[in-house]
Formats: sequence, C-alpha cells, structure tokens
Amino acid sequence: MLKTNFINFPKGKPFTEILNDFLGFGIFNVDGELWHVQRKLASHQFTSRLLKEHVEVNVKEAVKYKLVPLLDSFAAASNKAAANVVDLQEVLRRLGFDIVCKLILGFDPKCLVDHQHCFSNEVPILKAFDTAAEISAKRAALPIAAVWKLKKMFGIGSEKVLKESVKEIHEYVMEIIHERKKNIISKKLYKNHDLLSKLIMEGVNEELIRDMMISFIMAGRDTTSAAMTWLFYSLAKDIHVEEKLVNEICLFDDYDYGCDYNKMTYLQACLCETMRLYPPVSWDSKHALNNDMLPDGTPVNAGDRVTYFPYGMGRMESIWGPDRLEFKPDRWLDNKPGESGLKEVSVYKYPVFQAGPRVCLGKGMANVQMSYVVGSIVKRFEIRPVRSGEAVYLPSLTARMDGGFKVVVRKRPQRGCDTCLDKKIKN
Ligand code: HEM
Repeated sequence: MLKTNFINFPKGKPFTEILNDFLGFGIFNVDGELWHVQRKLASHQFTSRLLKEHVEVNVKEAVKYKLVPLLDSFAAASNKAAANVVDLQEVLRRLGFDIVCKLILGFDPKCLVDHQHCFSNEVPILKAFDTAAEISAKRAALPIAAVWKLKKMFGIGSEKVLKESVKEIHEYVMEIIHERKKNIISKKLYKNHDLLSKLIMEGVNEELIRDMMISFIMAGRDTTSAAMTWLFYSLAKDIHVEEKLVNEICLFDDYDYGCDYNKMTYLQACLCETMRLYPPVSWDSKHALNNDMLPDGTPVNAGDRVTYFPYGMGRMESIWGPDRLEFKPDRWLDNKPGESGLKEVSVYKYPVFQAGPRVCLGKGMANVQMSYVVGSIVKRFEIRPVRSGEAVYLPSLTARMDGGFKVVVRKRPQRGCDTCLDKKIKN
C-alpha cells in the first residue's frame, strides 16, 4: 500500500474532503499531480545542506534565547518555597510552532518568549489552529458524514466555529505572504532560505502557497512536541534510562547537539522507543482505486479504506516481542561486536514517519530539532511530573497527552564530563 502499489492507494476523496476546509489543497490533503508538484517544490527545502545551514541555526537560536532562559526562570522559582508548575507539553508546542514558522515562513510568531508571562494569555493564532484541527478531526469520527455537511450548509454549531478559525488562519498566513512579496519586490533580491520566499519567487499561486504553509505548520508543529513530551514522561518513570542519557549528553559540547545528532546513539534510541509506544501520528488511511490484494492475501476492493496504524503496530508482540509494552531504548542499540550504532529497523515495521514515496518530508528536520531540544533540556534540568499516574494518549490529527504534562523544573546538578566519560567506558 505504501510502496509497491503506491499509485493504487491515494488518500482519496473521503479523507481529503474532511480536511479540505482547513488544509485546502496543501500537500497533506492532495493526491496525484498536485501532490507531486508540491513534493518536488518543497523537497529542495529539506536537503541535508539546508538542514545543516538553516535548521540548526534557527533551532539553536530558539533553544538558546527562548527555551533555556524560560526553563531557567521556572527552575529559579522552584527553588523557592512553592514549586512552580509548568505544562511542558504547552512549552514544547509553542516552541514547535515558532520553529516551524521561522523555518517555513521565515517569520517568528514569538509564541514562546524567555519569560513565564507568555503563558498568562492565550495566543489567538495557536487557538485557531487547535480549534480547526480538533473540529476537522471530529468530522472523521462521525458515523454519518451528512451530520457535519448539514451543519456546514446551515453554518451552525462546530462548523460555524471551524469557519471562523479557518478565516483567522487564512488572514494570518496571507498577511505574511503579502508582506514578504512586498519585501522581495522592493529589494529585488532573493536572500531568504525559507520555503515561503522560494514559492513566491517561483511564481506559485497565492492560495496554493497559503494552503502549503498551513500543511507544513500542521506537520511540523505538534509532531515533534508530542514525541518530546512523551520522552520526558518516559524518562521521569525510569531514572536508569535518564541517567544513561545524561551520561551520553555530557560527552557533547553544549549547543552542538544538532550537528552531532547522529553520534548521539542513546538519544536516538530513546526517541525511537518513545515514538514506538506513542507515535505522534497514530494512524493514516488510504482509499484503493482498484481491486488489490495485501501481501498476506487479504483482498482489497476498489473504494475500500485501508489504514496503517503505527500505534497498534508499535505494541504488537509479533513485531516487538513479549516486552513490547515496556520502555526499553536498548532494544534499538546494535550490540554486534564492533558496532555501536542504532539497529536498522524496517520502516514498514516501524512506519512512524510513514514510508515509500510519501514518507515524511521533515524527518531529518525533526531529528535535528528533537536532538537539540532534548539534549539542551536534559543537560541542564530535571523534569519531574507533578502527577504520578498513567498519562492518557489522545489521538487526533496528531496525538498528544490529555490534559498536558504538568511538571516541576529543577536545575540538574552539573557534573564534570570526565565522570561521564569514565562511566561510558565502564558501561
Ligand atoms: C516526530 C516528528 C514527525 C513525525 C512522527 C512525522 C510523521 C509523519 C507522517 C506519519 C506523515 C504521513 C501523514 C499523512 O500522509 O497523512 C508525515 C508527512 C509529512 N510530514 Fe512529517 N512528521 C514529523 C515531523 C515533521 C516536520 C518537523 C515536518 C516539517 C515541517 C514534517 C513535514 C511533513 C510533510 C510535508 C508531510 C507530507 C508528505 C507528503 O504527503 O508527501 N514532518 N509526517
């Protein structure tokens, strides 16, 4: 479905019409030629050279000048009598939004700043994205599509709210597009590395640019923040894993995690293991154009909906063994003599970033970003949840932790890197 007979399995109209009001004709919500053209236009933006030059610089700035000072201020407050509770998921979601907007639109919405006051008010554009995503996802859960279609026709209830949120998002993105156009024309120079400037220079239609920008913001915003939230949750439950991760991170120069992310094997193993148990995209459906047969002999009829389900696959005993429900990053390590990297795991066994021609375009960007953010936090801070029970995984367009992840942030006692190196050698 994802590779060999990819052509036979587009997303299909039943899926795309649900998201059409929100995502329009953006890459996430189209098939065929329109998808192909956007994929080609955007893939230049994700080459390893640009990742290095552009992504690392922007992520580093956001972490150094916003995230770390903000968490520092929470940690300072926690040293006083009453511990200062913060929703880490919200911090990471805001950071994710700022980073993806900077990289894709070349514009920093500054939803996260270096001080706690940024949480005292809701940010209208974040709220509009959340509302539009939530109502669109709820359309998909209705047993009869006619319900939302009728509400839309009469402009009532959730459909009225969806229309208002989408209008707000469209105006927000269009204003940035118009401003950029003016700048490009007046300077008669193309210096920006972001996707928006590139699309304007290529002469792409304004409404298509707007839809593409919305798809990219949705793709990049909540996925990385969800993965990192569940990683910190899992680390807080297993101090041995946390200790091992701190030891590895200590071996790398501060603020150099992005460039070295491939060498941070244990950090990569922790991220893979987190996304196995808590994939940011829990399921994804396609619709068959013609009759077909799955490799195990299951017949598929034209028009059938076929879903691959990373959440379910990540918890299957036949794929991951009897300890499938345990958080064990070591299962990703290659223990062959002389090898110290990550095990090669088939993307069809672990389709967290999808696979085949529609594989996630932002996988490299996500890895750089997550390594950077996790490395910088773990090195400096201890993240301790205020609730002890099991958190609830809430699948939507992208999955998140129900009710947020309320934590207390404390400064991690600093240790000399020689100690870490000693420990690494002994391990
Ligand atoms: C941990 C982080 C991420 C995960 C787990 C993830 C996962 C996925 C998955 C499962 C899909 C297929 C969904 C579908 O077709 O409906 C996808 C598509 C996509 N992702 Fe990601 N993603 C992540 C981060 C990012 C980032 C940071 C970006 C960059 C802005 C990005 C850009 C895209 C794009 C543009 C597509 C559409 C590709 C296409 O249809 O050809 N993703 N991603």
